[in-house]
Amino acid sequence: MGKRPDPEPCRPQDLGLFEVVSRDGAARIGKLHTSHGILTTPMLLPVVNPNLRTIEPREMWDRYGVDALITNSYVVWKHEKLKEPALSNGIHRLLDYPGIVVTDSGTFQSYIYGDVEVGVEEIVAFQRDIGVDIGTMLDVFGRPDMSREELEEAVSETASRALPSLSEAGKELLLNGPIQGGLHHDLRSESGELMGAARGEHGGFAIHPIGGIVPLMEQQRYRELFGIILASRSSIPRNRPIHMFGCGHPLLFPLSIALGVDIFDSAAYALFARDDRLLTPDGTVKLEGLSEWPIASSALFGKTPQEVRGMERDDRSVILAHHNLEITQSELSRCREAVRNGSIWELAEKRSHSSPRLREAFLWVLEELEQLDETEVGDSLLDIMASTNPLRGGGEPVSEDIDSRPHVLHMMALISLRWRVPGSWWDGSDGPPERVVVIEGAPPPWRSTCLHTVVERLIEVPKSVVVVSTPIGIIPFSFEDVSPFCHIDGPEAIWLDPTDEEQLAEDLETLGLNDLPNLIVSPGDAPENPPPENAEVRSWIDRCSVVDKLSVFCATKPGNLCEMTDGMSARKSKTDRMINVSSDGEHILSPRLTDGGISLTLDGASMLYSFNPGVPNRFESEDEMEEEDHPGIPRVLLSEDAIPFVGQGRNVMHGYIDGADPHITPGQPCVIVSPSGELVAHGVSQSTSLEMSLFRKGIAVKVRDGALKER
Ligand code: GUN
Repeated sequence: MGKRPDPEPCRPQDLGLFEVVSRDGAARIGKLHTSHGILTTPMLLPVVNPNLRTIEPREMWDRYGVDALITNSYVVWKHEKLKEPALSNGIHRLLDYPGIVVTDSGTFQSYIYGDVEVGVEEIVAFQRDIGVDIGTMLDVFGRPDMSREELEEAVSETASRALPSLSEAGKELLLNGPIQGGLHHDLRSESGELMGAARGEHGGFAIHPIGGIVPLMEQQRYRELFGIILASRSSIPRNRPIHMFGCGHPLLFPLSIALGVDIFDSAAYALFARDDRLLTPDGTVKLEGLSEWPIASSALFGKTPQEVRGMERDDRSVILAHHNLEITQSELSRCREAVRNGSIWELAEKRSHSSPRLREAFLWVLEELEQLDETEVGDSLLDIMASTNPLRGGGEPVSEDIDSRPHVLHMMALISLRWRVPGSWWDGSDGPPERVVVIEGAPPPWRSTCLHTVVERLIEVPKSVVVVSTPIGIIPFSFEDVSPFCHIDGPEAIWLDPTDEEQLAEDLETLGLNDLPNLIVSPGDAPENPPPENAEVRSWIDRCSVVDKLSVFCATKPGNLCEMTDGMSARKSKTDRMINVSSDGEHILSPRLTDGGISLTLDGASMLYSFNPGVPNRFESEDEMEEEDHPGIPRVLLSEDAIPFVGQGRNVMHGYIDGADPHITPGQPCVIVSPSGELVAHGVSQSTSLEMSLFRKGIAVKVRDGALKER
């Protein structure tokens, strides 16, 4: 086994800061800065019992790349033979572990055994004195079966201990501020509010664990568990990681991560091993009766289940614990990769089929997502949807849950909010449309399968709105190359089913087209005469696509966009797709071939900004912005001191932003403006406006071009 070098401490000014380096909706790849290294999340803290080390912490560091573990400071405090060396040499030496040491406080012991005899300040001081990186205050465990009064008391008593604990911790010890409240969503949210707001002399909590959930996991009450995650998340400050106390079953990782959980911890890998059980990403398997391994691991490689059954009990639990830890780590790697490539929700969807109780919980989340106005946890779900980039490259696999995926819901919501029928038609006429043409029975790319039909139908009746029927609903033809629609991946049959009449009526209503006569056509059904020369129709279709995408993704008023595209021309590829779009000779944008989105140029961003010039409200301002369907390209108000850097094209970093429009969307264009309203740069947002108000580290906007460069 190779020796892995010790970690580097973070920069002193970064201690305790959390940054997000990649995201998929609420799921995020984060970096938490500590004195024993920078912790990449989502991750699992393996629980190490200092009296019984099934896997040596040193081996976790060297062999499994475990960057942080959790142990119990109360256990160390209680046992003289551990307490003395911990106080003299520090917890890292005691455990022989160079990475990040997190400790719990004895709350869990009070839940199992009744009271603990340690004081609130005393246990924090002890964690500080033994050199812990992230400690935990002594919270009050709120059991799900407690009365509301008891849970209210657990929440308020925990909150009242927050300040004394933060003061005792000093500036070196980062602290966990647990959230309690049992099954009551309002109490969870109140607890998040109180713990999130607590500020000692050296700042607030570094992490918020969600506590009191172990009994729910033991009883597999997953629906209630996910309700609690959503309710707690609604008020936990976004710039702090969320930890699920005591959750370590890989089955629960994907959905928890998709809903915003960053850290897990668990003794499951060792406890299950002692019980002769193997963890797999979709459930637990008993060693007894196995002929072959259900999943490979280096721990079990070269041994048969029969051989392992024949081992001494202690040896067997060590080998199974290694297997369980390996599987846990590899499922987390898979989840992190899914966050990076935008497929964490699909992974959660897949895993939901592994257990009926998890499936029930997943379907509950989907139901809540679809009726955001009527749920107690609606704010949290609305935030998840709104912070999900609606556009994404890559395939969109068909499944029974496809139309409930947050990015699909977001895309559909944006189209129904912002798409408008064309203001004028290819033949130069204006006025309302006369009919809707619904194209069905054609798979993407629709540019190849049905452009001729579209042109023919437009020549037949110029005032026609053309829409395409897809398994996730109808879309205006302008979005024919937009992902997810154009990447829907499924068997041929999904394109052959005739459009459901009721569904069609509902979809047409969403687009405001229900009062028009509609004609359903398949690409094969050509009108009788071949169409004449169609260059005018083709360039009108291209222009509609630019106007529609800018109005939907950049929130610009269609009227302004018609003006902007009046003198539009496009350079096309050999396959007849627009590459560069110019307005009056200036290159303003390029449609992205990978996902059908728009890449603006500086000239394009500057034109869009000219339609809603000015600065957004400052974060601290109480002024309400008027809610409009098309509030204009989202704007970020940059602090004075960052202007020279961002103006030259450097990224906008968190901590240098004084305000942002609330409709700013991760993955979509925005402009960066100075306090006097001057355009400084344009780029692609990585964050929501709430996140911009809270984060102090990391990239907030990836700048595409600075406006203050010498040209
Ligand atoms: N471990 C599992 N649940 C809890 C909890 O609610 N609080 C603390 N401090 N530790 C836990």
